[in-house]
Amino acid sequence: MRKNLLVVISIFFLVCSFQQTQAGNKSQKNFVPGTEWLDNNGKPINAHGGGVIFHKGVYYWYGEHKIEGKSEATFADGGIHCYSSKDLINWKDRGIVLSVDYTNENSDIAYGCILERPKVVYHEKSKKFIAYFKLYLKGIGYEVSNVGVAVADKPYGPFTYSHKFLGGGSLKGSGDFSMFKNTDGTVYHFAVRKPDKTFVMGKLQPDYLYAMPNSYQAPNGVTKHTEAPAVIYRKGKYYILGSGTSGWKPNAARSFVADSIQGTYTDLGNPAVGINPHNGLGPEKTFGGQISYIIPVQDKKDAYIVMIDIWEPENPIKGGYIWLPLTFKNDKPIIEWMDSWNLSFFDKK
Ligand code: DGJ
Repeated sequence: MRKNLLVVISIFFLVCSFQQTQAGNKSQKNFVPGTEWLDNNGKPINAHGGGVIFHKGVYYWYGEHKIEGKSEATFADGGIHCYSSKDLINWKDRGIVLSVDYTNENSDIAYGCILERPKVVYHEKSKKFIAYFKLYLKGIGYEVSNVGVAVADKPYGPFTYSHKFLGGGSLKGSGDFSMFKNTDGTVYHFAVRKPDKTFVMGKLQPDYLYAMPNSYQAPNGVTKHTEAPAVIYRKGKYYILGSGTSGWKPNAARSFVADSIQGTYTDLGNPAVGINPHNGLGPEKTFGGQISYIIPVQDKKDAYIVMIDIWEPENPIKGGYIWLPLTFKNDKPIIEWMDSWNLSFFDKK
């Protein structure tokens, strides 16, 4: 009798766990911006301020792993979380690929540091994946901002912390940034210089591990203090999208275009159009979010997706995502709100 009961209980738990997996595995057909986005395990995706690369048929999304319930200014950052996908909509959890260090207080990435906005670049010659992130050392805060560098052999990690450098050509370093690989393979670090917030660009060394000494300069024409930059090259022109500076609070996005990487850039204004029905916010607040990255979509012509974060500084793990197509009208970038969409959008353009 007791044995039968045990069998029934075991079957019950087996069925429950199977159902959970099924729920997590339910494949989604559309992007639904501004709503909860679940991974393959049915858990909310935890990859904020991130970026995406494409490698051998797979997209990898890297973002800030936030820790539940911790204060944003001190202990919210857990490292870099990676997800992979073939269709950009359904994401498989690949885990924390670079963790903050919980055991060594003297580590640059000791628990309590601020580790933000990870971006990964593939280095063809060494076949290494190089992750860059904003790194504020534990106990020092936002005063001095380093570029942290970590390296992996595989896109899904693990990444090993390597070193840090001060970007921007300033002893206070640089803040929000974009790593942009130009057509000749040169990688540029576009960043907000500290403490004066001038927008600057510098070249990385050919090994992509450090910025070249004295290479930072302000690209001509980007006169506004621009945070959260995202850079792409399209049809012979360089585009920079970004935000203003208002901490975690959303502001209006901006866009610039130039014929050469150092400019002169022309200000093309706010690319956002429409209203996010989930919070009632429109272009003047970038739908309640801040741009993080622009993903070139593979196998589609002239197709780009803008990754936007909805920040929740009181409990950052609750932050959300808005992914929308980036289109161009007479070469001016447009990010138009859509409640629900998928990649077939780019076939109809
Ligand atoms: C705006 C930046 O874009 C974020 O990454 C973060 O650093 C906040 N500022 C902090 O206030």
